[in-house]
Amino acid sequence: MSLNLIIEALAGSHDRSAFSCGVPVLDRYLREQANQDIKRRVSNCFVAVDRNNGVIAGYYTLAASSVPITSLPEDQTKRLPRYPTLPAILIGRLAVHTLYQGQRVGSALIIDALQRSTRAAPASFALIVDAKDEQATAFYRKHGFIPFESSQLSLFLPIATALKLFGS
Ligand SMILES: CC(C)(COP(=O)(O)OP(=O)(O)OC[C@H]1O[C@@H](n2cnc3c(N)ncnc32)[C@H](O)[C@@H]1OP(=O)(O)O)[C@@H](O)C(=O)NCCC(=O)NCCS
Repeated sequence: MSLNLIIEALAGSHDRSAFSCGVPVLDRYLREQANQDIKRRVSNCFVAVDRNNGVIAGYYTLAASSVPITSLPEDQTKRLPRYPTLPAILIGRLAVHTLYQGQRVGSALIIDALQRSTRAAPASFALIVDAKDEQATAFYRKHGFIPFESSQLSLFLPIATALKLFGS
């Protein structure tokens, strides 16, 4: 049976207690920290909810950020104005419940982040992520993210490129 998901802003009605992605720090974040970050306006959190049972299949966080223009490869910047920093949107955390892994929930979360970033009133040049390890880096590279030269665990995806890749 194919998944029937809705991706929406985290709310009090969502059951965060059963979420388990195999990385305790990411489970704990959803249970204990995400709502506080939303209230303090430092990060938003979006959850993919299985419409069949109300289970949170995955989540990601989104916050405004910026990247120094000097951290980007020249081929990305040659047609841009020489502003010292460029606006970006940070996916700070992203995780999929173990029961839902391998079913494209991670991809759906990235596409949702891209769509929300495109719809936001302030412009942003790229999505950026901080991957927790090499494995996570491979997942993001698979989705077109490019590592920053300064740190292979930080990656960016120019939004214009992403819109072409994902046809959004
Ligand atoms: C990494 C994670 C988010 C992937 O989510 P998922 O829903 O299982 O992945 P998807 O099914 O959407 O995979 C989409 C594509 O990425 C690939 N992929 C998934 N995980 C990958 C990995 N670790 N390395 C390389 N490719 C990966 C899949 O093979 C798939 O490719 P395909 O389109 O050719 O079939 C998930 O396994 C997870 O939550 N892990 C624990 C937490 C974590 O590592 N978070 C990373 C952010 S720090």
